[in-house]
Amino acid sequence: MGGQPVATTLVTITPRSINDEFTARFGRQPKLFRAPGRVNIIGGHTDYNEGFVLPTTTGLYTWIAIVPRDDRTLRVFSCKFDSTEVIDLDQIKSCGDGQWCEYVKGVASVLEGAGHSLRGAEIVIDGDIPLGGGLSSSASLEAVLAFALLDCADVAIDRGELAQLCQRAETDFVGVRCGIMDQFAISHCTKGLAMMLDCRSLEFQSVAMPANASLLVVDTGVHHQLPAGEYNSRREECEKAVALLASEIPRLDSLRDLDLAQLEDKQKLLDDRHYRRCRHILSENQRVKDAFSALQRGDVVRLGELISASHASLRDDYEVSCAESDALVEIMHACPGVYGARMVGGGFGGCSLCLVDSAQLDQVIDKVQAEYGEMLGRPPWVHAVTASDPVGPAPASQPADDPQSEVIS
Ligand code: GLA
Repeated sequence: MGGQPVATTLVTITPRSINDEFTARFGRQPKLFRAPGRVNIIGGHTDYNEGFVLPTTTGLYTWIAIVPRDDRTLRVFSCKFDSTEVIDLDQIKSCGDGQWCEYVKGVASVLEGAGHSLRGAEIVIDGDIPLGGGLSSSASLEAVLAFALLDCADVAIDRGELAQLCQRAETDFVGVRCGIMDQFAISHCTKGLAMMLDCRSLEFQSVAMPANASLLVVDTGVHHQLPAGEYNSRREECEKAVALLASEIPRLDSLRDLDLAQLEDKQKLLDDRHYRRCRHILSENQRVKDAFSALQRGDVVRLGELISASHASLRDDYEVSCAESDALVEIMHACPGVYGARMVGGGFGGCSLCLVDSAQLDQVIDKVQAEYGEMLGRPPWVHAVTASDPVGPAPASQPADDPQSEVIS
């Protein structure tokens, strides 16, 4: 199998472990914050086309321990990278390398740019979200850091503004032209629920996760592209298609304003590639709405069909899958009790998800670990999703030794 291995954590993060790391380094008791990762049940690449998405949170988190300083210096230690960075809030400069510290600098920079004057701080970051796995490790870091820095500076902020500033950190500072889904879901999701988000109006409706079915995420163990490369090019293709179609469709601003009949009618304006990109976005928006209705009815069979149709469209029309994701999805599909499966996140590797009859979850995990593990050369990382709280202070009542996730290497 080709591609770069994804760094998957084998460590279970608890409040006590990050608290201990902080006190060992700085000799003081920190405040703790955490932000969940999200998984998008359906709605791939629709967010930056002002369309619809249906994410939930995962029960995996990025954690921050923080104590303010009296100056304007951020001293930040990443447990995952075993690395310290020192940032002067008066001179924030991008290195342009897309590494973890760029996200920290990006968040500090956009918060300051929006007029929120920050204080320096000692910070330790840790988490159990696989990096680059399509479970929004980046957005989770942005959100928890923004929340913690603003808390340190005694600034109250609206969650909608928080999500938009974190998105800006990624688009303007890191250079990945992502949509709003990840940051918005992490800031607004509710325990036990999924949300259908309209990425144009930012209105959302919540719906309960199914009572008798589970979402299982499995890491392919590969990540083929640099974050910005193919992702940004898909966004540019959509923008170009809108520009071409707008020559004959008045007031067309985004693919959100188009329906499949209009697309068929104006197909001659597009080459095959741009036509298929549009077909994916339009059909995916409809699938999100249908999936939301299916969830409201508790119809897991229909939801599974839509999830699988989403994968086919992402693979064939949007071309953001890869051999490993397709193989993993096929293995998931073949398991008794699986209603549907698809890749998640930006694509080109990372995790895939499947919707599974909860009574058969253990057997599905065993089968996927054995069969995909044979291809990968080791059992893949797996995680059964539990929709969790949004970004905020770490719950005080949480038992210090309560594991946040089951992590299997
Ligand atoms: C990444 C981006 C999101 C979204 C997904 C694809 O996770 O950060 O904004 O576009 O890819 O659905």
